[in-house]
Amino acid sequence: MSLIQEIDFGTPRSKAEKTVTLTIDGVAVTVPEGTSIMRAAMEAGTQIPKLCATDMVEAFGSCRLCLVEIQGRAGTPASCTTPVAEGMVVHTQTERLKRLRKGVMELYISEHPLDCLTCSANGDCELQDMAGAVGLREVRYGYEGRRHPNSGIDSSNPYFTYEPSKCIVCSRCVRACEEVQGTFALTIAARGFDSVVSPSMAEPFLQSECVSCGACVQACPTATLNEKSVIDIGTPEHSVVTTCAYCGVGCAFKAEMRGEEVVRMLPYKDGKANRGHSCVKGRFAYGYATHKDRMLKPMIREKITDPWREVSWEEAINYAASEFKRIQAKYGGSSVGGITSSRCTNEETFLVQKLVRAAFGNNNVDTCARVCHSPTGYGLKTAYGTSAGTQDFDSVERADVIMIIGANPTDGHPVFASRMKKRLRQGAKLIILDPRRIDLVRTPHIEADYHLPLKPGTNVAVVTSLAHVVVTEGLVNEKFVGERCDWDEFQDWAAFVADKRHSPEEVEKVSGVPAELIRGAARLYATGGNGAIYYGLGVTEHSQGSTTVMAIANLAMATGNIGREGVGVNPLRGQNNVQGSCDMGSFPHEVSGYRHVSEDATRAMFEALWGRPLDEEPGLRIPNMIDAALDGSFKGLYIQGEDILQSDPNTQHMAAGLSAMECVVVQDLFLVETANYAHVFLPGSTFLEKNGTFTNAERRLQMVRKVMTPKNGYEDWQVTELLSNALGYPMHYNHPSEIMDEIAALTPTFAGVSYKKLDELGSVQWPCNAAAPDGTPVMHINGFVRGKGKFVITEYVATDEKTGPRYPLLLTTGRILSQYNVGAQTRRTANVIWHEEDVLEIHPHDAEQRGVRDGDWVKLTSRAGETTLRAVITERVAPGVVYTTFHHPTTQVNVVTTEFSDWATNCPEYKVTAVQVMPSNGPSEWQEEYEELSRQARRIAEPLIAAE
Ligand code: SF4
Ligand code: SF4
Ligand code: SF4
Ligand code: FES
Repeated sequence: MSLIQEIDFGTPRSKAEKTVTLTIDGVAVTVPEGTSIMRAAMEAGTQIPKLCATDMVEAFGSCRLCLVEIQGRAGTPASCTTPVAEGMVVHTQTERLKRLRKGVMELYISEHPLDCLTCSANGDCELQDMAGAVGLREVRYGYEGRRHPNSGIDSSNPYFTYEPSKCIVCSRCVRACEEVQGTFALTIAARGFDSVVSPSMAEPFLQSECVSCGACVQACPTATLNEKSVIDIGTPEHSVVTTCAYCGVGCAFKAEMRGEEVVRMLPYKDGKANRGHSCVKGRFAYGYATHKDRMLKPMIREKITDPWREVSWEEAINYAASEFKRIQAKYGGSSVGGITSSRCTNEETFLVQKLVRAAFGNNNVDTCARVCHSPTGYGLKTAYGTSAGTQDFDSVERADVIMIIGANPTDGHPVFASRMKKRLRQGAKLIILDPRRIDLVRTPHIEADYHLPLKPGTNVAVVTSLAHVVVTEGLVNEKFVGERCDWDEFQDWAAFVADKRHSPEEVEKVSGVPAELIRGAARLYATGGNGAIYYGLGVTEHSQGSTTVMAIANLAMATGNIGREGVGVNPLRGQNNVQGSCDMGSFPHEVSGYRHVSEDATRAMFEALWGRPLDEEPGLRIPNMIDAALDGSFKGLYIQGEDILQSDPNTQHMAAGLSAMECVVVQDLFLVETANYAHVFLPGSTFLEKNGTFTNAERRLQMVRKVMTPKNGYEDWQVTELLSNALGYPMHYNHPSEIMDEIAALTPTFAGVSYKKLDELGSVQWPCNAAAPDGTPVMHINGFVRGKGKFVITEYVATDEKTGPRYPLLLTTGRILSQYNVGAQTRRTANVIWHEEDVLEIHPHDAEQRGVRDGDWVKLTSRAGETTLRAVITERVAPGVVYTTFHHPTTQVNVVTTEFSDWATNCPEYKVTAVQVMPSNGPSEWQEEYEELSRQARRIAEPLIAAE
């Protein structure tokens, strides 16, 4: 294995369709119009020396190293800033150019520290490379030139250092922060020799506006900005392309390695989801894989009050299997089930649901997608026929109006947010429906045209009101609707939304959104060109989550914003493989490809290959499993990679249900909160230790490749295989590619997927089959998958969760950039520096009424429970609304969320809980008990960890 070297073409690719032909050093080259001479030369195989140019950012033309001669033109223009022209004749290597370039390099080197042998970038430094490329052999000015300001090294960021004395002031970092990341945290301060890169107002990186995406570090041609891991370990010696295991953006990375140690994660420019960019989690927060808390040995205990006993894999697997068999013999075949994980690979997820259906013999399988995007599956399948987003991420580059509903992309989907921000800076309009002033409402060079700060729980009313404006103001795209949708259903729907009760003036009364904002936003979306909707859990995690998804689908159809680039309905998926876990048949009523278990032909196909009869009745969903456990009819659960105690609502109810079971098997990386209720603990493997695929929010399957040996001895799919074999249902796969072959054989939308194809194409978006052998970037182009698009009546029904004198405020929840989900991984990285605890955002007015000051402890109470956390007073939330995150188990905000859920899918209503906030002296009693329980668990586990 060797290091994968991606070509740096110097300037970004031109997207022009027209091409021009020119001659470079006697070779004819044809490139798109607008291409730089530098890039055209690279395309022809000629590398022009460069320092300030890199193909991730626009050319700047400051270093003067890339000079060329153009026949018929005077002077020596910079090739990075000069576009090609038809018939142009270019020379890149003449005596004059050689002399000029040497002169430029002499100036650079004369003022650069010459500690190359001990420099962390030795061997990976473009300044070194260019000195070699121009043949620099002497420096006429000596090496004592005036240095750039040497203010020491800024090591404040946990992941990278900044050493100004090595800076060549090429501005690549500044441009990367602006153009790629869109944060504008860096500037070049002062002039001439005093020029220096300055984070925000000359602050240390950690205190600046920097969000630690690392784009500047990647762009830096010297060691000025460098990863601390490279400084510690040295330069990498081989690399492997893999996929981030955090969010649903699905960024591709080169894991750059030295042996089995990760030196750094470099975003892969060929990654079609991220195009060479990343966020702080994917690039830097991989240290959890080697954290000392990793549990590497299986453990069992008869009762959850017993101490854990470390055992062999064989004993743990046999114990779990015998318990499941005993329970089924005693309580019946339906008394056990399994939960798949949206963090695991498609192959692992597929095997868990196969184990449940074939080895357990029931359909009691569910997934953590239940608690996030199950309404997306239901809503989009009903309207369009497919349970997935309609576009690829590239599509946003053609959007004219972007509508974000209930999502916070800069925190939840940061790399896609950067791509979106780029389009917004180019002039696309922005509409945001969110109770909070999320960052995108106003951020450098971007201001939302409309922010509709709706009251939590009123999504259906507001989106239906947008449709009211479209219909009553004659903004329907009747041609599209007539050709593509069921006309009768459309007419019924149009009459429904046109009713006065859906007018912005009426909806203002329930949603709190001024009518003129609803009218303006609707007009802009309907008439502003390509309208693209992106939404998140602020849509789905409601009692009417599925209804809102269908209301969004209606709006897009009515305005013709479906079926081409730049438009569409796009769920932003939370976890890395939410899309995949749903695709793989993790729901109790559907096998892979969203086919209902009651379909005889589908079952027959599976039965023929699996050799077991399948139950035609849908099984239990997670909440039903917990209820059944409390009823005494559900006794055994296999949970792969999901901490349901912390991530699911109504924690006390969940704890009671888990406590009522006789065999809970938890397969995870750490002793997660759910493991407190487990009888068998099976160590899991990280994404760095396994092969497989993830499917991101744009239906894109990408390879996850093993870069280190599993520390626990097995990849997760192998553990499922062991358990299935012990249960008496044989599984024998030599490699996850064989599981994918089985998925392809059983699932029409995946029929064309194979590891060979993924290796060849890099990634593929399903459907991928005979009709679309290379996959489907944009769906519903010539017609909806279900035939005619379906308009659904979306009556607004206020949630039963009401504010009142006891609970006068509405709590809504979300996530923060540096943390991920329940925090099991990110809390075990240096990312905690940005978010040590969950805090409660409260409006100044509400805080003042309660005598709460910034930073005070407050008790958050609902009818379900209470927790205590610190208050942050901010106008990001409206009066009457409070907000927090759910990353820390000591807060466990789901203690206060309720049992209410989406009517169609049981997705919990996380986003609306009536609460009271009162000053407090410190953590609640249960939090102190929890801390004590955790300390005990640690004490029990400590000797086992230490024994590793
Ligand atoms: S790490 Fe990212 S946000 Fe921070 S300065 Fe660099 S490019 Fe900007
Ligand atoms: S820090 Fe690096 S990228 Fe930024 S100006 Fe200096 S040398 Fe260039
Ligand atoms: S967390 Fe999401 S946005 Fe960040 S690197 Fe990973 S996939 Fe990309
Ligand atoms: S690379 Fe062209 S001017 Fe620096």
